[in-house]
Amino acid sequence: MSRAFNFCAGPATLPEPVLKQARDEMLDWRGTGMSVMEMSHRSDEFVAIAETAEKDLRELAGISDDYAVLFMQGGASSQFSTIPLNLLGDKTSADYVNTGIWSKKAIAEAKRYGDVNVVASSEDSGFTTVPEQATWNTNADAAYLHYTPNETIGGLEFDFTPDSGDVPLVADMSSTMLSRPVDVSRYGLIYAGAQKNIGPSGLVVVIIRKDLLGKARKETPTMMNYQVIADNGSMYNTPATYSWYLAGLVFKWLKEQGGVKAMGEINYRKARKLYDFIDANDFYANPIEPRFRSWMNVPFTLADDALNDEFLKGADARGLLNLKGHRSVGGMRASIYNAMPEAGVDALIQYMTEFAKERG
Ligand SMILES: Cc1ncc(COP(=O)(O)O)c(C=O)c1O
Repeated sequence: MSRAFNFCAGPATLPEPVLKQARDEMLDWRGTGMSVMEMSHRSDEFVAIAETAEKDLRELAGISDDYAVLFMQGGASSQFSTIPLNLLGDKTSADYVNTGIWSKKAIAEAKRYGDVNVVASSEDSGFTTVPEQATWNTNADAAYLHYTPNETIGGLEFDFTPDSGDVPLVADMSSTMLSRPVDVSRYGLIYAGAQKNIGPSGLVVVIIRKDLLGKARKETPTMMNYQVIADNGSMYNTPATYSWYLAGLVFKWLKEQGGVKAMGEINYRKARKLYDFIDANDFYANPIEPRFRSWMNVPFTLADDALNDEFLKGADARGLLNLKGHRSVGGMRASIYNAMPEAGVDALIQYMTEFAKERG
């Protein structure tokens, strides 16, 4: 059996050693006579798996004891409502930055719970840039400031951490989490759907500063109340045990790779290689202002859209899978998360070179 290079934006490719370990431990996890999937979440064995995963994540991301780490369910999308329900408190409004489709979804959901002040938007540019922070119309009395550091669909990534003053900074890091070092202490809350750099879909990791707990509106569903989830070690109900275990294996793998700093260097190199190639070749184009090009999701177009299907067919035949761009933007998109080896990027560039020579 040979593994393809899977460029899917999510669920995305996972590190091969992680999958092999999960396979080896599937029927009998370390002499327990059962798989992790079949274990009680209250068992000593699973509690140890869960605690080790959290400890490794804290170490990798540099998360201090001032923060709670929650392993929740419902994907990143459920956080779009969980956040306003928990953080609006006695404030009436929250600030949001609009840099693409995921920002827009977060904004639309937050509007159901309070006043949303869109402090800046790059929609006019077709989301090809990030508005300079000096131009943002922020409100010092906002409950929080929400932004999306990496727009997975547009391939737009902030190259700075916004300064939110005393207003808690909230970030949807679904597609950038653990791809490079981040100063967690700058944030009130970070959340990430797992299916890119962490593990299986459905799981969502939430890192929340402890002073922000306990402010949920009274109508907040119990399962969405951060305080309840934190008080119960993310086990108020039956957690997504197998996903949590797999996330733990990914964290161990990341540590073996040298952690997020080493990973950031590799990711920078992979992305740089691909963008340099696209810029140097007239047949391909990427519309994003170079400073804000994503290290994780690289959208590109061919000189002639009529060739898209042929390009994708040829890519599939070489085991370069899921390169079709999101339906809202068209073209192609190569998602090159932590688990995509540099050899995958090299193989893609090789194919793109040959395709452009034949068809260009
Ligand atoms: C930046 C971003 N936010 C939110 C989501 C939604 O995540 P989920 O499907 O886990 O709800 C995604 C999914 O791709 C994403 O890329």
